[in-house]
Amino acid sequence: MSIPSSSTLRTLKVAELRSLCSSALTPVPSNLNKLRKADLIELLEASDSTEAATQSTYEYDEDEVDPYADVRERLEALAKYSAANPPPEHHITLFAAFTTYLGYAVLICVGHLRDFFGLTLSIGSRYVPATPRTGVAPLLKSWDNFYNRRLYHRIQDCFNRPVGGGEGAKCRMKVMERVSYDGNKTMIVANRAADTDKPTKFVDGQYNETDEDGDVVRRCLNLGSYNYLGFADDWNDTCEKDVLSVLDRAPVSCSSPRVEVGTHELHRELEVLVARFLGKDDALVLNMGFNTNATTIPALVSKGDLIISDQLNHTSIVSGARASGAAVRVFKHNDHNDLDKVLREAIVMGMPRTRRPWNKIVVMVEGIYSMEGEYCNLKNIVKVCKQYGVYLYLDEAHSIGAMGPTGRGCCEYCGVDTKDVDVLMGTFTKSFGGMGGYIAASQDVVDYLRTKCAGSIFHNSLSPIVCQQIITAFKVIMGEDGTKFGRNKLRALRDNSNYMRMRLTDMGLHVLGNYDSPIMPVLLYNPTKIAAFSRECFKRGLAVVVVGFPAVPILMSRARFCVSAGHTREDLDDALVKIEEVADLCCLRYAKSTFGM
Ligand SMILES: Cc1ncc(COP(=O)(O)O)c(C=O)c1O
Repeated sequence: MSIPSSSTLRTLKVAELRSLCSSALTPVPSNLNKLRKADLIELLEASDSTEAATQSTYEYDEDEVDPYADVRERLEALAKYSAANPPPEHHITLFAAFTTYLGYAVLICVGHLRDFFGLTLSIGSRYVPATPRTGVAPLLKSWDNFYNRRLYHRIQDCFNRPVGGGEGAKCRMKVMERVSYDGNKTMIVANRAADTDKPTKFVDGQYNETDEDGDVVRRCLNLGSYNYLGFADDWNDTCEKDVLSVLDRAPVSCSSPRVEVGTHELHRELEVLVARFLGKDDALVLNMGFNTNATTIPALVSKGDLIISDQLNHTSIVSGARASGAAVRVFKHNDHNDLDKVLREAIVMGMPRTRRPWNKIVVMVEGIYSMEGEYCNLKNIVKVCKQYGVYLYLDEAHSIGAMGPTGRGCCEYCGVDTKDVDVLMGTFTKSFGGMGGYIAASQDVVDYLRTKCAGSIFHNSLSPIVCQQIITAFKVIMGEDGTKFGRNKLRALRDNSNYMRMRLTDMGLHVLGNYDSPIMPVLLYNPTKIAAFSRECFKRGLAVVVVGFPAVPILMSRARFCVSAGHTREDLDDALVKIEEVADLCCLRYAKSTFGM
């Protein structure tokens, strides 16, 4: 049966939509009578979409319990719809835009007033920068310095929170409570033994514990780490044995770059594994994801070449592009039509002044954009690159291991052959519970990079112990450990992410990104809500990441949730109740009303 167009669907009544669903959908959702109009429309649109989601679900065996059985149909329909349509666009309400600008204006004015009184009356002068030595230019840029002292310091308790008790990136972690006795300028770890004579400056309560040194820690659900596959949580069952066993035969550090005496057999084993996983000739592994971009890009492109970069690419790509000396143009985020336009213009016009053709053109994109929670429109981008005969460089830092039916990243998810991407870059910091980065490409490119890329010739190599962690994680993901851990992790990550996204959206929050992506940014807008959201979540035992200007545009401050396979549905349900409370307190339901209430 054919489904009416979206505009017709919107004119139908709820009862009509329900009857349409029951005649058009197979299977008919069991909770059909409870679904609201918007959900019914989404289901119908999704069932009509021609392009199916490429993230297949691992079916639950008969002896397994599907924790999301009650919402399974809706989750699948939403994921299918999301795979075939662009992510929702959220427009800041006039009220939120006005109050956001007002908030920054007040903070900046008050900051300048405090600087003025600090300098003239010596009130709070400790926090006014000392006059630079005569004849010497100031070392720090004045605006950054001002921003740090007068804006960031007010909310610095929301950042750099130390994690205690060896919990690392685990889903259930302990975060050290900190106190400040100088108006948040400096923070120290709260200690019950040392601070008895001082007023308690943190909200004491059911989540707090005191460790053996008297330090106060808060038990939190971690919604901020990139522990996508939960290797931090089940490390003792999955990786510990291999990693500890290698300590006897490998050093913690090779104390030498790869090209000198820093290549261990585990580096080569990992490189062969990465290449096999991605279907490329070979791979190069380096000690840091950031440096992989920052040092590979200048080795690949230089003066006379052109980089065409997505507007929202990560700063490591930006650093590499700037260091390369190549010309850089940007195209609108994830927009293949704009890429087409920029490419056409670049090819027709050639280099500025001389008009000679560019030596080579490289397009740079990411698999999942970490601040947007959105995955790359890779199929169309590949088409455009092929049409113009230009190279494609794909950063899979957040998508490798986290997307695609078998965790092979954005290419697998979008149904793109890895052969159509010239350079695949990725990191081991996220899904693999390790660190470092890789480049997977054709043999000649990898051979060239081994001797030309600064990461390979000047940086200390990746720790062999960490190599083993990554090798074991790969084997788990690929099922080569003989268990179902890997497929269960991939399934749990996808289910948890989609459930969390669905519930956050149902709350009326402005959630960015696509279904099937584990990153969920929620827009906060106002600078005051950055701290309020973080502190209120922390009070309730939720560790969340908040991001403000200049990391994101001034109007687009956000909280960014990262979901993990290590979370359980109970964890998420509990967190969602708390997030809903905080959303009410901070008036964040902008999808429901202009004022967010
Ligand atoms: C897209 C992207 N590329 C590269 C990196 C750098 O990776 P690493 O943290 O492993 O150095 C990140 C970090 O989050 C990232 O988001």
